[in-house]
Amino acid sequence: PAATHGTFMLWRQLLSLSLTNQPLLTSNFSSTPSTIQICQIMQPDDANVAGNVHGGTILKMIEEAGAIIGTRHCNSQNGERCVAALARVQCTDFLSPMCIGEVANVSTEITYTSKHSVEVQVNVFSENIFTGTKKLTNKATLWYVPLSLKNVDKVLKVPPVVYSRQEQEEEGRKRYKDQKLERMETKWRNGDIVQPVLNPEPNTVSYSQSSLIHLVGPSDCTLHGFVHGGVTMKLMDKIAGIVAARHCKTNIITASMDTINFHDKIRKVTFTSNKSMEIKVLVDADPIEDSSQKRYWAASAFFTYVSLSQEGRSLPVPHLVPETEDKKKRFEEGKGRYLQMKAKQQGRAEPQP
Ligand SMILES: *[C@@H]1O[C@H](CO)[C@@H](O)[C@H](O)[C@H]1NC(C)=O
Ligand SMILES: *[C@@H]1O[C@H](CO)[C@@H](O)[C@H](O)[C@H]1NC(C)=O
Ligand SMILES: *[C@@H]1O[C@H](CO)[C@@H](O)[C@H](O)[C@H]1NC(C)=O
Repeated sequence: PAATHGTFMLWRQLLSLSLTNQPLLTSNFSSTPSTIQICQIMQPDDANVAGNVHGGTILKMIEEAGAIIGTRHCNSQNGERCVAALARVQCTDFLSPMCIGEVANVSTEITYTSKHSVEVQVNVFSENIFTGTKKLTNKATLWYVPLSLKNVDKVLKVPPVVYSRQEQEEEGRKRYKDQKLERMETKWRNGDIVQPVLNPEPNTVSYSQSSLIHLVGPSDCTLHGFVHGGVTMKLMDKIAGIVAARHCKTNIITASMDTINFHDKIRKVTFTSNKSMEIKVLVDADPIEDSSQKRYWAASAFFTYVSLSQEGRSLPVPHLVPETEDKKKRFEEGKGRYLQMKAKQQGRAEPQP
């Protein structure tokens, strides 16, 4: 591990040197297009055994596209060089499943800038390139903050975006204020510790509870050594998927992901309805190479999964048995979120999990 770490540090230095010290090929970004699209063909690696692309794979693509457009925008004036770091992902629904062989088309656009943050909206389409059929699979809103390349603890200013309509700025400001409020509220929640239980009963919370430990490597990180938001979301979806599969023992797919705030690993089923289950994922970061730093809470989110038959029809989900008062309370809270989400979806008349 020491040798790997050394190589990693060297690699990081080399790359950041080439980024910051060499003259840039073009010095002007004034012609920066305000949207970008990424297309990628979905491979077996990206999917589960039934051929459904993992929600986490899609989340990772969304975050990559957002980081590119965000970083490009934040460097569009000749100020201090910076990288756009993911601060928040708003709740996103997986509207239809994507399959191996389809092309994922991720389109991003900068929709609002505040003094220190950038809002990026993303649409994901799945395209069957043989028939030309296209389906909207996700809509997501991400917030990034620009961190200085020289000192990643320093948040830089964001160049203002040019709006094509004046209302766009007003609407954006409202979204900015709403998310800021919500972000402060969620700071108070969370922070559970998951205790393992010996020989738990089937269908209880403890039965499917799982944790995943992942050693962060160079391929998970930005050139400046912090983990890509997309990598974290992919891991969160992976562990939530394990929990859902343990609970249902069927093919399960991600139906939605609640808002994630990245503040600075583990997770559990909190609630099941007849057709869906909600799984809470907690991410702890443990700086193993620096004993002066304590383990810290990095992010948390609720994922919703549905269970599918071999024909792709939705199956009933086994009822969850909350064993303790605390788990019962969480179950009731989950039910509240479920009913709220259902009401919202009916309002939008979109497919529901
Ligand atoms: C960069 O943009 C500025 C103003 O937008 C312009 O005056 C300057 O000539 C441009 N430089 C290059 C190298 O294109
Ligand atoms: C991606 O989808 C958008 C919206 O349907 C479309 O306008 C764009 O051409 C697509 N991009 C590519 C590279 O296929
Ligand atoms: C769930 O299933 C039970 C029994 O089949 C039924 O009574 C109940 O109304 C269902 N709940 C919802 C929310 O559909």
